[in-house]
Amino acid sequence: MVKWKSLYIYYISGTGNARASSYWIAGEAEKQGWKTVVQQIDRLENINMPEKNDETLIGFAFPTHGFNAAPLMLRFIAGFPRGLGKEVFLLNTRAGMKLYKLFLPGLSGVALMLPAFMLWMKGYRCIGFRPVDMPSNWISLHPGLRKKVTESIVRRCERIVRSFAVKILGGKKVYRGLFSLPVDLLISPVALAYYAGGRFFLAKTFIASNKCTNCRLCIKECPTGSIVELNGRPYWKLSCESCMRCMNRCPERAIESAHGMALAFWFIFTAVNTHVLLAVVGILEITPEKWWWWVISNILSIGGMVLITAILYRVIHYSMAIRPIRDLVRYTSLTTLPFWRRYNFNKGNKSVKDKELTRPTS
Ligand SMILES: Cc1cc2nc3c(=O)[nH]c(=O)nc-3n(C[C@H](O)[C@H](O)[C@H](O)COP(=O)(O)O)c2cc1C
Repeated sequence: MVKWKSLYIYYISGTGNARASSYWIAGEAEKQGWKTVVQQIDRLENINMPEKNDETLIGFAFPTHGFNAAPLMLRFIAGFPRGLGKEVFLLNTRAGMKLYKLFLPGLSGVALMLPAFMLWMKGYRCIGFRPVDMPSNWISLHPGLRKKVTESIVRRCERIVRSFAVKILGGKKVYRGLFSLPVDLLISPVALAYYAGGRFFLAKTFIASNKCTNCRLCIKECPTGSIVELNGRPYWKLSCESCMRCMNRCPERAIESAHGMALAFWFIFTAVNTHVLLAVVGILEITPEKWWWWVISNILSIGGMVLITAILYRVIHYSMAIRPIRDLVRYTSLTTLPFWRRYNFNKGNKSVKDKELTRPTS
């Protein structure tokens, strides 16, 4: 006999996968007569917290970003009050793919371990954590999957999530996230590098092309409030988490990942960085025994990368007022290619009901 009578799920979702998963779980709880609250944590604003009691089960659902939980969720968990309940569960959505009939999983890294540890430090007991391989939304890296493929991935994931829900709501413990622990531990240094530097670089690869009508939807909808209007067009701040919501929701398909520009940033950065690192090695006479200087200089070089990228991005943003530059940036973006599909679970319709949450669009 379980003691819980209510369920609170907090979620962050760029393109609807974690959101859909949250509603599927809530749907199962409602079938059992529980009171459910599904709450998005966008901008960490307007968030309801449960009353302090032991009859509430609390869940957290979020996408995996760079082998880690989405940074906004980490911030939310870091500030989450102690003692609102006793038991929690975690669900991370990952980049699911399908090759012929084979469903390919994404990779969690520390996406479950780190939040579980943070919550444990706050006195919560994690009774379940589960990765779910929903359709990949990483449109900067690959075109969105075909509709038929996303639908079949979603059907499979819905079954998995609902079965996970039935188990944990029934008081069973589910630690499915531990299955890939060796691989997850192996890639955890990449998670650190992404968190420290990579995510800031990605934040500076978005541009609004001349198709942009300045409707400001991206600015309004950004979950981290990272898009502002600068010089009459959307500008992505460093706090952008590349959640892909803007790009996948833009009604004009005007938001692109500027691959050509990102490549140019990368060349400039590596050229500067190589000179700086060589100079540092020479000045400090770094030898294998003084390996820690390598570590320090590399940390500094990640900082340098972020700074160089941010400066160049701003310069290009202003230069894009000139048509040829705007066109050059746009037409060297792979995302402009006609077959480069977008992915959006349900066009982000906030009023969508649980039973309607089965129609991905791409
Ligand atoms: C910037 C970025 C980084 C990502 N990193 C990972 C990753 O490390 N591992 C993984 O399996 N999926 C990764 N993905 C894919 C998403 O986690 C996945 O598509 C997720 O289901 C999206 O959920 P959402 O629609 O709720 O945002 C990444 C996606 C983006 C945009």
